[in-house]
Parts: sequence; structure tokens; C-alpha cells
Amino acid sequence: MSAAPDGPPQPDDARGGRVVFVGAGPGAADLITLRGARALEEADVVVWPRSLVPPEVMEHAREDAEVLTSDDHTLEDVIQLFARAKREGLTVCRLQSGDPAIYATLHEQINACRRMDLPYEIVPGVGSLSAMAAALGQELTVPEVAQSLILTRRAVRVPMPENERLQELAGHGTTMALYLSVRRPRELVADLLAGGYAPDSPVAIGYRVSWPDEVVLRCRLDELAATLKEHRITTQALIILGPALASGEEERRSHVYRPNYGHRYRRLGSPKRYREGDGGAAPATDATTGDGAPA
Ligand SMILES: C[S@@+](CC[C@H](N)C(=O)[O-])C[C@H]1O[C@@H](n2cnc3c(N)ncnc32)[C@H](O)[C@@H]1O
Repeated sequence: MSAAPDGPPQPDDARGGRVVFVGAGPGAADLITLRGARALEEADVVVWPRSLVPPEVMEHAREDAEVLTSDDHTLEDVIQLFARAKREGLTVCRLQSGDPAIYATLHEQINACRRMDLPYEIVPGVGSLSAMAAALGQELTVPEVAQSLILTRRAVRVPMPENERLQELAGHGTTMALYLSVRRPRELVADLLAGGYAPDSPVAIGYRVSWPDEVVLRCRLDELAATLKEHRITTQALIILGPALASGEEERRSHVYRPNYGHRYRRLGSPKRYREGDGGAAPATDATTGDGAPA
């Protein structure tokens, strides 16, 4: 076994057991990645968060795979399972809703793997934020309107670090995504208003986005609490707000595709746009831009 200081422990011996944390996507079964589905197919044991990952996703699992539902078990139960995987050489697929990097209790599970020198791998997933933007048919970063995204939550039962108070984050006025925060909507709205968002700031609410019973609603910030109440949304919802949601028809364009904006793949002022004989590959560096490649 080798434990790289900057990455997960890697297996020296494939029979030694391992855990694959798989982002299962926001709900729709076809939004799991190919790599995630493959990891699920190969697993001896699957840890399944039933409330956030629908049964259709589990169709990728082997019929004889052992299944542990995570919603009625503790972290300690899951860690015991990891320990058994290590002893018995099992591959565990730990499904996580959306992307495992966001509010996924991943940190403590990874620490457990590290402590027992159990190799693990993370397969990224389509997060609920991406699914929500797709459902809205919008980009969340709009040139000259909002170029930053704040992903956060409101402290209710779980405290927030002192330097991440919602009111202060709201002061930036950019696009904000609020996870796990629909429980006390009036207090939420009060914090956002106190932080500086205008009462008529555009808001979108996504309940179980990409599930068959998906609900996506738009309202103003001062209508948020009433809208959640009217639609009885108390859980499994993402709230997005900020000026990017309002920029519909307005002409805004990114710099990167402007004719006068050069970069390594489309150089300006050069008689030969691409080097000859290299199939059009771009040079490794390009003084025309300090910026990256087009999206
Ligand atoms: C435990 S967190 C998991 C987040 C997940 N890792 C992700 O990347 O989306 C659960 C919260 O994520 C949001 N969420 C997850 N899936 C969602 C979906 N399909 N529709 C709306 N919100 C969702 C909600 O705010 C929910 O309370």
C-alpha cells in the first residue's frame, strides 16, 4: 500500500478492497456519468442514499451486489462497512447525490479511508446547480453582470464558520446558490435583504430538479417565503438568486469570441493563424492573451 500525501491511498494489490465515491447526479438516471455507471456495475457493495438518488440509478448495480441504504444508517455504520471492505477485499461504490465535492459528507468518509489505508477514488457527478441552470435555460455567469458564484447554505441546525455569515456573502450581490436552506424561508430572506440584495432580485427555486416530480419556480426575493409555502417546498430544493437570472434578451457577450480578442487558438495579427504541419495545434504559450482557451 502506498499513501500519496496529496492524493488518495492507491492500491498495491487490487484484492485489498477499495471505495469509489460516485457522484450520481441530481436525480435523472441518465445524468450519472459513464465512469460512475461503470463503477456502480463493478461494485460488490453499494451505499445508496435513497432520498436523493432514485432507484433507476441503482439499475446499473450488479444484481448480486449488497446494498446498504445510507439514510437509515450512521457514518459509523458506513465506516464499519469500509473496514469490512478492507478485510474482505470488497469494492464499495458509495453513491453521493449530485457532485461529491459539495455538501456530501465526503470529508469524514475520506478521512476514515485514509486512517485505515483503504484506497479510494472519486468520480465527479453532475451537481444540482448545473441541473438547475439547465432547467432554467440560463447561464449563471453573465458578462458584466455576474462573474462570480457563491455556493453556500444558511445556518440552521448546522453552524457556519464565523467568516461566512450569509449577510456578508450577500453583500457581493452576485449569483448565489443556497443549498439545504429552505427550512426557515422568512429568516433566509431577511438575511439576504440585510446583506444588500434588493427586494425585487430575481430568484429561482428548484425542487428535485431532473426528477419526474421536478418543480422549478421563479419569483422576486420578497416573494420567496410565500412561494415556498404555496408550493409546500420544505426540503430537497436549491435556491438561486442574483442579477444573472434577470439578463434575458439583453445584449451581453463574453470577450472570448469577439473578433478583436486574441488567444492561443485564434491569434490576432498573425499572417498564419496556426502553425503549419502540426494539424492546427496551438503553441504552448501565446503572448496575445494571458487568458485561457475558449469554452
Ligand atoms: C446533501 S446536499 C447534496 C448536494 C449535492 N452533492 C450536489 O452536488 O448537488 C443536498 C442539497 O442539495 C440540493 N439538491 C440536491 N439535489 C437536488 C435536486 N435534484 N434538486 C434541487 N436541489 C437539489 C438541495 O439543496 C439539497 O437540500
